[in-house]
Amino acid sequence: MTDNQVLKNITVLYAEDESIIQEGITETLNLFGIDVICAQNGQEGLSIFKSSNKKIDLILTDIKMPKLDGLGMIEKIREIDKDIPIVITTAHHETSFLLQSIELNIDAYVLKPIDIYKLKENLTKAIQAKVLKEELIKKNIKLEIEIKKNEEKQHIIESQSRFAAMGEMISMIAHQWRQPLSSIGTASFNLKYKLLSEKFDLDTQEGRTEQTKFFTNKLDEIEFYVQNLTTTIDDFRNFFKTDKELVNTNIENSIKKSLKIIQRDLESNNIELIQKFESQNQINIYENEMIHVLLNILKNAQDKFIEKKTKDAKIEIKTLDLEDSVQIEIHDNGGGIAEEDLDIIFEPYFSTKKEKNGTGIGLYMSKIIVQSHHQGELFAKNIKEGISFYIIIPSML
Ligand SMILES: Nc1ncnc2c1ncn2[C@@H]1O[C@H](COP(=O)(O)OP(=O)(O)O)[C@@H](O)[C@H]1O
Ligand SMILES: [Mg+2]
Repeated sequence: MTDNQVLKNITVLYAEDESIIQEGITETLNLFGIDVICAQNGQEGLSIFKSSNKKIDLILTDIKMPKLDGLGMIEKIREIDKDIPIVITTAHHETSFLLQSIELNIDAYVLKPIDIYKLKENLTKAIQAKVLKEELIKKNIKLEIEIKKNEEKQHIIESQSRFAAMGEMISMIAHQWRQPLSSIGTASFNLKYKLLSEKFDLDTQEGRTEQTKFFTNKLDEIEFYVQNLTTTIDDFRNFFKTDKELVNTNIENSIKKSLKIIQRDLESNNIELIQKFESQNQINIYENEMIHVLLNILKNAQDKFIEKKTKDAKIEIKTLDLEDSVQIEIHDNGGGIAEEDLDIIFEPYFSTKKEKNGTGIGLYMSKIIVQSHHQGELFAKNIKEGISFYIIIPSML
């Protein structure tokens, strides 16, 4: 914006008791396109400022005036408006006001006799500063709204991710439970069958002992499987507790906990699991969150195998120590992903499984967990027959 544009159509309240000066300056300001409202002294200036229908953009004022002087007027105006630009016209010898004017946040001083170009320059600067400040405030407000929106979005994604994980968990629990439940069913059927078919000769001591042995065995079996079901539920429940504290552990432990949850699921889909644990380092992690990440990646590989009907499906999990971090690699041979999609897979809601209830938030949340919560790295690379995920967690966290 040129200086002339800045001043065009602004309204200046001009307080000056010497009418000759006031008339001359007003005429020139009008030539610049400035609308001037005149006041003969501070008191009049103040009352115009308070009651004007027009928005006043700037105050131009003399200091020495009858009734209420310039500084007195400014003081009152500042009580109403902290930010309105103010320019003072002053004579050489009037210096005593300087200190006070600093407190009143004056934008500029123009010496009398007034050099009209200096005045114009100072008015422009004062108005520009105000405009810039207003723009900055507007931008800040916009930014705050954006930040708030982002926070809300993040919150929604987090709860969606929790729901999605819960859904996946339920399917894993179902797999875990299938075998013990069917064993319990078989055992109780056997018991009932033996009872009803009167297989044991209860008249003899031998028959009674045989029956007791058979029943005890079957009941032990049932007890074993019930214990198994309980453990599964405990594993899952622990996983859903929110992490508050870092746990110092070897990553192998956390991987094994994840596998305990998903292993049955993988087995039932004929997926071979190769484990190579070489990392010795202890690291500090939010363990449930890390299990979440591992399960996400493993589950994705399984999804891919199922989609591709991969014959010799394999997942290899490897850990190793780097200089000051621990690296976890998860490779699969499920065919990988289009090279151009490699970075997008970490974006929220990107999913190629929309028709199969894919949420597209698994990897997004995983990245947040690894990078923001653990200051680590999570990335993927296509390999020969599939994809490799790398998780790097710093040892010193
Ligand atoms: N092991 C993998 N092999 C091939 N593609 C994968 C693999 N893991 C993830 N992807 C791709 O990344 C996308 C996003 O994964 P994710 O964020 O977990 O969401 P979702 O599993 O709900 O689709 C998947 O839809 C899939 O296209
Ligand atoms: Mg997923």
